[in-house]
This record gives sequence, structure tokens and C-alpha cells, in this order.
Amino acid sequence: MFVSSSAAPAILALAGAALALPSTVPKRLFESVDAAPPAWAKNEAAAKDEAIELRIQLAHQNMPQFHQMALDIATPGHEKYGKHMSLEEIDAVIAPKEESKQVVFEWLGNHSLADSAVLTPRGNIVVVSTTVGEAEKLLGTEYHSYTNAETGEKASRALSVSIPEAVFGHIETVQPTTFFGFREIKPTFTPHDPVRNDTNAPQASYTTPTVLSTLYNFKSISTLTKGKMGIAGFIKQWPSKSDLSTFLKTYAISGFGNSGQTYTCTTVNSGQCPASPASAGTEANLDVQYARAITSDIPNEFYSVGGNNNQIYEYLSEYLLGLSAAERPNVISVSYGGDESSVTKSVATTTCNQFSQLGAAGVSILFASGDSGVGSGCTISGKKAYQPDFPGGCPWVTMVGGTTGTGTEKAWVDGGGGFSNYFDRPTWQSTQVQAWLSKNKDGNTQYYNTAGRAYPDVAAAATYFEIVVGGRTGAVDGTSCAAPTFASVIELINSGRLAAGKSALGFLNPWLYGNASNALTDITSGSIGGCAAISGAGFTAIAGWDPATGLGTPNYQKLLQVSNAT
Ligand SMILES: *[C@@H]1O[C@H](CO)[C@@H](O)[C@H](O)[C@H]1NC(C)=O
Ligand SMILES: *[C@@H]1O[C@H](CO)[C@@H](O)[C@H](O)[C@H]1NC(C)=O
Ligand SMILES: *[C@@H]1O[C@H](CO)[C@@H](O)[C@H](O)[C@H]1NC(C)=O
Repeated sequence: MFVSSSAAPAILALAGAALALPSTVPKRLFESVDAAPPAWAKNEAAAKDEAIELRIQLAHQNMPQFHQMALDIATPGHEKYGKHMSLEEIDAVIAPKEESKQVVFEWLGNHSLADSAVLTPRGNIVVVSTTVGEAEKLLGTEYHSYTNAETGEKASRALSVSIPEAVFGHIETVQPTTFFGFREIKPTFTPHDPVRNDTNAPQASYTTPTVLSTLYNFKSISTLTKGKMGIAGFIKQWPSKSDLSTFLKTYAISGFGNSGQTYTCTTVNSGQCPASPASAGTEANLDVQYARAITSDIPNEFYSVGGNNNQIYEYLSEYLLGLSAAERPNVISVSYGGDESSVTKSVATTTCNQFSQLGAAGVSILFASGDSGVGSGCTISGKKAYQPDFPGGCPWVTMVGGTTGTGTEKAWVDGGGGFSNYFDRPTWQSTQVQAWLSKNKDGNTQYYNTAGRAYPDVAAAATYFEIVVGGRTGAVDGTSCAAPTFASVIELINSGRLAAGKSALGFLNPWLYGNASNALTDITSGSIGGCAAISGAGFTAIAGWDPATGLGTPNYQKLLQVSNAT
């Protein structure tokens, strides 16, 4: 529990006060959603004695100033470029006020919950272990049990949260309440044994690490060892080392530094690292097999994050921020997401702010942009609209869209792209996005927010990726293929920078949209679809940035040249 010399006596006194207290302090609506996201069916009221762990994010200070610092650090040519911040330096700017901690503990004390509450070591999140019944009184709400029709997953959630007037301004989020959780961007695995006899696609069009090494111009590199490549795994998705070993026997790039041929698995928030998982995760295997094959001899680390689906990014970000700079990965590849409209604005903002902190600490965060084009289920607040992805709209991550074809690449039809309804367009992309908007004549601008942060930023191959799952070879499609591919090429560049005594690239976007944009291969054909109910929905890849394939696909040697000049 939180103990501070000045606040402790007051808290203890209140903690012992009569149970009648809560009802005497009026509450005001803090946040509400109209209904659960479409996949979630409402069941009976949640049992009052069901255990629940509430996580209350205290309000951080000075976020706009901090964002400017994070931007300066990521802007080539700025005097602060590459001067990444330690957690202590970050917290010297944004740590919650002492008063916020005191008010939150007083509120918990008024509900006899101060003794069940613990402040995280960083001092920005209060974790309350209680029951649904107590949480309902604290938050002036009612929890119901919901079932996800697609996954069968069950969750207890509330559709509104009300808090005392005195607590406003002191907290950013309290969950699990109104947010139902993120999901895996699931690539579908189609086994085909043996590879060469498969009839689903001509063999020449399969994507392998060797194919990518030609396509993205990293075939001839000297062995790289510095730095660390990070891969995030959530929702009980585990990779298999034996599948990786089988994969590398066939698909390791010939003559490529790759003697490590494995990865370490680290648990975060009670995640697990089974030595030989009964059923390896397709997503996890895909990510690990491609990252390992592409990143030469650079150590690879798989972060297996446990816990509630709706706080996976919080667990991961806080964990990585708590590491020393030497322990942190330089790049993290993530292939999980959700519809932006299903993520409450408070959760989206807090999560995105956590990513900005990781960027300032020197971590490049790359996300798959989603596999539904401009969206599926395209109704927002009762109106037809494109359905942007989260964190696609977060301006502090690099979103990777999809391409297909290993000769001349074109946009992959299901690659995610669009415009955020939550986050405004950041300055680093304004020139390119404005240029696209001025050329755009799709006649559908009423369905998306042309002032929003636009994505994807970049793209990479997303189809016919050969992988091994459970000993069998098969192929997968999805931006889940593109994210680890682009992320791994960035880590090759980082590793060279570290070997040369330079800083890693950190938050990439100002660099990508700046001098590095000419080092990418612009994709100028194909289009993305989605939102079938909207006539002509989708975006076409054209010359320059576009919301189908962003700035384009990587060219390692060209990016290296720009990096050498940065
Ligand atoms: C960008 O590229 C130009 C031309 O090569 C170079 O003069 C300039 O220094 C570069 N700027 C940065 C910040 O790297
Ligand atoms: C705690 O309860 C006291 C007494 O009812 C009230 O004055 C105070 O505002 C409450 N504090 C909070 C943060 O709700
Ligand atoms: C393809 O299938 C044929 C007949 O089933 C088999 O003889 C051959 O060995 C297979 N080729 C490869 C490369 O596995």
C-alpha cells in the first residue's frame, strides 16, 4: 500500500471509518460507453464476490511539454536528437503529483479499500485487489459478465464509471471497466506438406527470409551482434523453439550471420514461457521465426505478457520502461490491436502516452496495421464510417501496412489503413498527408477524419509467408508478417549504429517522413478494401505517401546510407 509521511495518518483514520461513508460523497460520470463492442454479448450481472484487480492510472503532469521533448529527441538535426531519456528523467517531467496520490488514497479509504491498494514502484498506477461488489460501490456502477462470440472469452465489465468530484483531474483511467480488450491480428495458418508440392500458390511466390533479403536489399551484410530485437506476445500466444529450429534448417538466409538461432523468452506480469508449448501460437511463431532469421546475430527477446487483455500494453510499456537502457530492446514488433472505437478515449490516450515514453527512452515501436483494410463492421455511434485501428491512430508508434508480390510489390487488399478519430495529424506527416489529400478524389471523405493521424507509415510484404507450426510447414498472410519484417530491418540498422557508437533510432516517424522517406520503395499500385457496406470504400496506392501502403517498403542499404548521415 501507499505510505507517505504526510498522508498516512489521514488514510488510516478514514480506512477505519464507517461503511456508510461512500453514499455521502456524491459522484459524477467520469466515462461511459453506449454498449459493449459488437462481438461481446451481455450475460447476467457479475457475482458480487468475484475477485477483480482495478488499475487506476494517476494523472501524469506536463504531457504536452514531454511530447515536445520526445519529438525533439526523434527529429534528426535537432540538438537533442538521439539523446534518449532514462525513466528518472522522464518522471522528472511527468510523474503524477503527490496530491493525486493522496486524493486517490483518500477516495479508496472512504470505501475501506486503501488497505487493498498498492502503488506500483514507479508511483503512477494504483492497483486495488478487491471484489466486483466493492468496485461497484467505488465506481458507482454495475458489472455484467460478457462473452466474446468470436473467441469464447468471458469478461466482467461495466458500461460507466462515476467518481467523486474531488478525484477528477487526478486519474487518467480506471480499468477493467469500460474497455473490453485488445485482440490478436490473427494470421490464418494453412499447412501444406511438403512445401514444394503445395498447390495453393506457385512456389515461386512464397515469401521466405531469403526472398525478403533480396526484396529489401539486406542480403550482403556483415554479421551484426549489438542491441536487442524485441517481440511482444500476448493472450497466451507462445512461440516454439523446436519449430524455430526446424524453420531455420530450411529457411535461414545462406551466408547470413545467424549462429545464435534462438531467442530468450521473458515473462511480464505473470505471462508464461512454456519450454515446449502444447500448441505453439501461429502469431508468436511467425514473429519469432522472421525476426530471428532476419536479425543476423542480434539477440532476440520474446516478451510473454500475461494478464487481462485490456491492459496488455500498459503491462508491457511499464515493464520495458522499468528496465535499464542496456536491457531494453531497441525495437519492439507488435501484431495485436483493436478497433479504435472499441478502445475508450482515456485508455487510448494513456496507452499512446506510454508509447511516447518508450520512444523517448530509445525504443522503436512497430505495429501491424490490421488485416481489415479500412475496417470491418463500419458503424461508429450509429453512423456509417471507416473503422480505424488502435493503436493505428496513436502518433507515437510506426504502423506497418501490407504489400503482396515479390517482383513489383503492390498494396495487399486487406492491409489496414486510415485516419484516427481520436488523434490529430502530427506535424511530421503533415506535408505528405496533405499532398495525398490534395490529390485524393475518392468521394468518401465523409467516412473518415481527414484531420486525423493517418496510417500506415510504411509497409512490407504480407502474403504467403512460409512458417513452421507444430512441425508442419504452411503459409500465412497478414500485416502480422509485415511488422516483424520491417521491425527487423530497422534493428539491423540500429545494431550497426550501436556498433559505431551512435544511439539507436528510437521513435522512427520524424526520421522516416524526413530524409529516410527517399530510402523507401514507394508502392504505387494495388489498393486496400474493407467496409463493404460503404460503396467504393478503401484506398489506392499511388506515388508518394498514401493510406494504403504509407511511404513504402524498406531498402536496407539505402536506409543505412541515410542512417549514416544522421
Ligand atoms: C538530410 O539529407 C540532406 C541531403 O543528403 C543532408 O544535407 C542533411 O544533412 C540531412 N539531414 C539530416 C537531419 O540528416
Ligand atoms: C472522503 O470522505 C470525506 C467525508 O465524507 C469527504 O469530505 C471527502 O471529499 C472524501 N474524499 C474523496 C476523495 O472522495
Ligand atoms: C512431391 O510429391 C511427390 C508425389 O507425392 C513425391 O514423390 C515428391 O517427393 C514430393 N516432392 C517433394 C519436394 O517433397
